Amino acid sequence: ALGLSTAAGAQGYPSRPITMVVPFAAGGPTDTVARLVAESMSKTLGQQVIVENVGGAGGTRGAGQVAKAAPDGYTVLLHHIGQATSASLYRKLPYNPATDFETVGLVTAVPMTLIAKTSSTPKSMPEVVDYVKANKDKVTYGNAGVGSASHLCGMLFMSTVGAQMTTVPYQGTGPAMNDLVGGQIDLLCDQTTNTTGQIRGGKVKAYAVTTKDRVKSLPDLPTMQESGLKDFEVAVWHGVYVPKGTPKEIVDKLNAALNVALNDPKVIARFADLGTEPEPKDRRSPAFHQQFLAAEIAKWKPVIQAAGVYAD
Ligand code: MLT
Repeated sequence: ALGLSTAAGAQGYPSRPITMVVPFAAGGPTDTVARLVAESMSKTLGQQVIVENVGGAGGTRGAGQVAKAAPDGYTVLLHHIGQATSASLYRKLPYNPATDFETVGLVTAVPMTLIAKTSSTPKSMPEVVDYVKANKDKVTYGNAGVGSASHLCGMLFMSTVGAQMTTVPYQGTGPAMNDLVGGQIDLLCDQTTNTTGQIRGGKVKAYAVTTKDRVKSLPDLPTMQESGLKDFEVAVWHGVYVPKGTPKEIVDKLNAALNVALNDPKVIARFADLGTEPEPKDRRSPAFHQQFLAAEIAKWKPVIQAAGVYAD
């Protein structure tokens, strides 16, 4: 009977609005990706996909809320690489990122840029390294909490240059960016989906991108590798999740709507303008996302342990 009713439920799905939880503050890069995708999915599914920002604890508060939600397809999570790194960063997570969700599909992988307040004196990435080494914990660095992408980038930067900075945590890099533009903090490593406009507008000073190749929409920005930080490479991949136990028919319906969004010329053009592109078509199935998440959890575990970074 249960099987029948869930299948029947799937047939009528969705019969009311869907909540898409973004585990960071509004106005940041994750929010930007989510709202683009949600707008298209609302049309395809015939029900509003409403973005709800649930910030805190580097994204784990919002992810934890979805892990405990009813597995009925009406609560969805859009999260990034933090879903993999939090598995190693947190010693007492109230959920298991690897087993408490059904993976719906990957969305996009976004480059990161190391940026500073405009009054920052270093003229290049190598000069930033020297400056941080010389000034150590006097340099303030914004991030969105342990488990955020900005935290991961900062961790890679500090372990690469062998110097600690003073971290200023925010509910997301939307608010962090406001303080950087205002000169309240010195440095931020954030995704091009949030930094492209500020860089083009001259509101921040940009030093490098964290991807192997330069970003087409920011052609003058050297890569970390070009700047002499050869092991420093990270792209912030994003995925969609529902609580474990959500019926396969519902997962598949959400995956199909997500794919329509990623094929939408408006979404593709907006992603391109923000320095990114949709996940390639052959990497968009729920099964691929599942094995990719497992591989990413395994990949970042030793890196996080070597950096000696964790949260309780
Ligand atoms: C955000 O959307 O605020 C960012 O993803 C936060 C982060 O992960 O750095």
